Amino acid sequence: MMIEVKINGKPAEVPAGTTILAAARSCGVNIPTLCHHEALEPFGACRLCLVAIDDAGRQSIVAACNYPLEHSGLVVETGTSAVWQARKMSLKLLLARCPGVKVLQDLAREWAVDTKDLLLTEDRGEECILCGRCVRVCREVIGKSAISFAFRGVERRVSAPFDQEPDACLGCTACAFVCPTGAVKVIEQNGRRLIAPWHSNLEQVACKECGRAVAPLKMLAHLRGLAGEENEQAGEGVFCSRCRRLKTAAAVTALPEVKFPGPFMIP
Ligand code: SF4
Ligand code: FES
Repeated sequence: MMIEVKINGKPAEVPAGTTILAAARSCGVNIPTLCHHEALEPFGACRLCLVAIDDAGRQSIVAACNYPLEHSGLVVETGTSAVWQARKMSLKLLLARCPGVKVLQDLAREWAVDTKDLLLTEDRGEECILCGRCVRVCREVIGKSAISFAFRGVERRVSAPFDQEPDACLGCTACAFVCPTGAVKVIEQNGRRLIAPWHSNLEQVACKECGRAVAPLKMLAHLRGLAGEENEQAGEGVFCSRCRRLKTAAAVTALPEVKFPGPFMIP
């Protein structure tokens, strides 16, 4: 079922269930986001995507990323002064927790956010804005739930169960890939992959040709399992991408030359 919505005065038609964010983007209207990721379920944590809505006279400010449009007639405004005030307040709250995070500092500059009135806590080097992208990618895309939120209030953070190396972690680094602040640190050394905040410490498989680390054994075993292969073969015959390219190039060069009969004649 298609429904009608008005965004910044422009009428649009979207399938029912589309979020305000998706509807706005489909009309070329930009709304800032931090905790949102196209591949993940909405979470509504950062509150940077706030917009004003008017639903048959009921006005409110909502997070565009997790507000599904269920019926026609909603009027959305994405750039009013009330909206910007609310977004700036959300940004200040994030900055109060993580004053040193570059993506927040850049937004504060871009939005001319005055941080003087903010009681900035001492910068303890906190880089996690609690956006939950890492938790969601691990659960929804990788299917592992190696990490989750723990504790409440100011103590809230993402961690592995009991702050111990998580058994479920494959070392795929999807968490680091989606993290918007760089809080998830991945270190590769001495044939192991370490993922700092979760205490993950995984054995890497070495390239059969050059000996360079390719990927964690556990991750390869998981992928082989998905492909229906035996897990015991996980570390066997693995080449790094560079050696694989070189081998393919050498194999192609060794092919016998193919002789074409000459220019094709069109009768
Ligand atoms: S570690 Fe990164 S992705 Fe995970 S909640 Fe914190 S900021 Fe978000
Ligand atoms: S992007 Fe909507 S709340 Fe974070």
